[in-house]
Amino acid sequence: MKFFVDTADLSEIKELAATGLLDGVTTNPSLVAKSGHSNFIELIREITAIVEGPVSAEVASTDYATMMGEAQTLAKIADNIAVKVPLTPAGLKVCKNLSSNGTMVNVTLCFSAAQAILAAKAGATFVSPFVGRLDDIGQSGMDLIADICAIYGAYSSFDTQVLVASVRSPMHVVDAARMGADVATIPPSVIRQLFKHPLTDKGLAQFVEDWKKTGQTIPV
Ligand code: G3P
Repeated sequence: MKFFVDTADLSEIKELAATGLLDGVTTNPSLVAKSGHSNFIELIREITAIVEGPVSAEVASTDYATMMGEAQTLAKIADNIAVKVPLTPAGLKVCKNLSSNGTMVNVTLCFSAAQAILAAKAGATFVSPFVGRLDDIGQSGMDLIADICAIYGAYSSFDTQVLVASVRSPMHVVDAARMGADVATIPPSVIRQLFKHPLTDKGLAQFVEDWKKTGQTIPV
C-alpha cells in the first residue's frame, strides 16, 4: 500500500519525506490556501523536487476548455505531476484527454461506486473517494472503498488505483489496507498517529532504563 501525504505544507512534506516512507503528495485548493503560499506553480514545483512519487495538483476551473489549459500548464511542471480534476462530465473529459497522452490524472471528489466506474473508464490513474466526508453525513466511507475495490478487481481492463482520501484516523488507513486499496492520502497528523502505541513508549522507556544498568555502550 502506498502512502501519500495530504498537505501543501512544505516543511511537513520535507519532514515526512525524510522518513523514507512517503510515496507521493496530494494537494487541493483548500490546502494550498491554508499553506499561505502566493505562487501555486512554484509551490507545486518545490513539492515535485522533494518527493519522487506522484504529486497531485488540482485545476481551479470547472469548464472543459479552461480546465484543459490549466491541466496542460500543471502537467509541464514536472514528470511526477498527477493532474487532479473533479468528478464531473467536463473533468472526466479532461481526464480522458490527458490520460490518452500519458499524463497521470487523479479524479477527485468521488462519492459513489458509479462515479468510480466512470473515472476508470476515463482512464484515471487514481480515483479519490472521500471517506471522511461520507462518514460526516452518516454514510460509510469504508463501504464505498470496499465496493470500488471489488468492482475494479472484477475488470482487468480497469487500471485505476484506489486512492483513499479524506482520511481522518489511523483506522481509516488500516481498513483501507485490509480492503486492498492501492493508496491512502493521509494528513500529516494522522501519519504521526500511525507510529504511536502506548506499549511501544512504555516498553522503550523500560529498555532504556535497563540498558543504563548494564553500564555499557554500543560503539558507533
Ligand atoms: O485531498 C482531498 C481530501 O483528502 C480532503 O480531505 O479532510 O478535507 O475531507 P478532507
